[in-house]
Amino acid sequence: MYGMVNKAIEDLICSRFGREVWEETKERAGVEVDAFISNDAYPDDVTYRLVAAASEVTGLPPHDILLAFGEHWVLKIARTEYAGLLEAGGRTLREFLINLPNFHARISLIFPNLQPPRFRVCEATDHSLQLHYLTHRDGLAAFVIGIIRGLGQMFGNPVEITQLAAKQDGADHDVFLLQWDSSETGATS
Ligand code: HEM
Repeated sequence: MYGMVNKAIEDLICSRFGREVWEETKERAGVEVDAFISNDAYPDDVTYRLVAAASEVTGLPPHDILLAFGEHWVLKIARTEYAGLLEAGGRTLREFLINLPNFHARISLIFPNLQPPRFRVCEATDHSLQLHYLTHRDGLAAFVIGIIRGLGQMFGNPVEITQLAAKQDGADHDVFLLQWDSSETGATS
């Protein structure tokens, strides 16, 4: 994955636990990179090893690290470093979610080696929809949940998330039911 992802993990761990914990995480993960370059691609394995090591060092389950990472990704990283991309995603929570299937296509223009996830939206109403998450990667459903929670906070419209199907339980892919208050507010930034 692009270095921006690993950099964001670094930012999360440093801001929550301090730089020493990050250095310990990298050492335990066997990652000998001093500074990740946002625009360079790294093997996925590096990201997975960092999450596993962060879990060991902090004592938080990998699931919780990924949840926190998803929220941090939206509220701290994307909002400051990729604000234009985020704003182009939609003016309300519902609009953003409906547009999600096209979201990474814009990013692929800037990062040509991107191997993005795919999303499908169905059964959309004013206050709910089903989100299908398709990827060749394993174990990142909690990251998606964290991102959706972060989006709910960003739009001031909390989202209730129910997992309807899970790849880790043998389903073809993950499916989430997303529900929110239908009185939509705009972005709160
Ligand atoms: C400005 C905001 C965003 C940027 C710049 C961005 C960029 C990226 C990048 C660079 C990757 C790594 C893939 C690779 O390097 O091959 C990635 C992965 C991913 N992104 Fe985004 N993304 C953004 C917002 C979102 C949003 C809103 C979602 C919604 C859930 C999302 C879901 C994911 C997921 C789940 C992955 C993990 C890879 C996978 O599942 O295969 N991203 N994104």
